[in-house]
Amino acid sequence: MPSSALDRLKTLVEGARSAVAFTGAGISADSGIPTYRGNDGLWTKYDPAKYADINYFRRDPEYYWRFFQEVRYHVLSRAQPNEGHLALSTMEQRGKLTALITQNIDGLHQRAGSQRVIELHGNSRRFPCVDCGTVDTLEEVFARLDVEFPPCCTSCGGSLRPGVVFFGEMLPPGAMEESTEAASACDLFLAIGSSLVVTPASSLPVIAKEHGARLVLINNEPTALDGMADLVMREGASEVLSAMRLAQ
Ligand code: APR
Ligand code: ZN
Repeated sequence: MPSSALDRLKTLVEGARSAVAFTGAGISADSGIPTYRGNDGLWTKYDPAKYADINYFRRDPEYYWRFFQEVRYHVLSRAQPNEGHLALSTMEQRGKLTALITQNIDGLHQRAGSQRVIELHGNSRRFPCVDCGTVDTLEEVFARLDVEFPPCCTSCGGSLRPGVVFFGEMLPPGAMEESTEAASACDLFLAIGSSLVVTPASSLPVIAKEHGARLVLINNEPTALDGMADLVMREGASEVLSAMRLAQ
């Protein structure tokens, strides 16, 4: 990693009054969770246009539950927070990070100790009942799949769904408003491990920039917003963030 880029990042972080981190699938890649569009985008056997779409889920919920039983559960249950997650948690503890906005649904930021996490796309460790709202956990649901497929609510017998935002759905109430407020008020916006192509999340770095913040992009491939960034680091998220953490 060029020391000049890392030095520039450290200077920007040290000089920031209020920094916001915005993360995508790339920060969890080192935890063994494949990204969606990066060169390791591995969700091949199952089609995201089906398992991640609300209309398809309503038509054929069993497709999602097969994907969950064969792929997603095993990836999520094995995943542990990595150096990138831990570095952002340390930044928050040191009062350097006013908000952590994530597109990820793996819950790894919270498991790394981050407190103020805004989950734009929900959390795939929670399974609410569509009828009564009772929430089951990842482990509870998986344990029942062999005898109950698709799984039903233990309180009312209704249908369960993953606590994530499917394509075709609105974001959780307030998530975008809270994120927009944080992006507008910060003076440093760190976009980490995201291709920055999915709206409305990808408008947040633009909002930060428009409100005078410095924009840093840490991603191992080009992103849609490279041209407007103050610093682009074409590096691994864990490497950059752990180097920055050690320097603080
Ligand atoms: N370090 C840094 N960047 C990485 C790493 C890494 N170790 N590994 C992969 N990347 C980069 C990839 O090159 C890619 O550009 O992370 C980016 C991840 O981009 P996407 O796969 O598009 O994921 P993301 O931007 O989070 O997608 C946003 O799209 O499918 C929906 O709801 C889903 O939340 C997701 C949203
Ligand atoms: Zn129920």
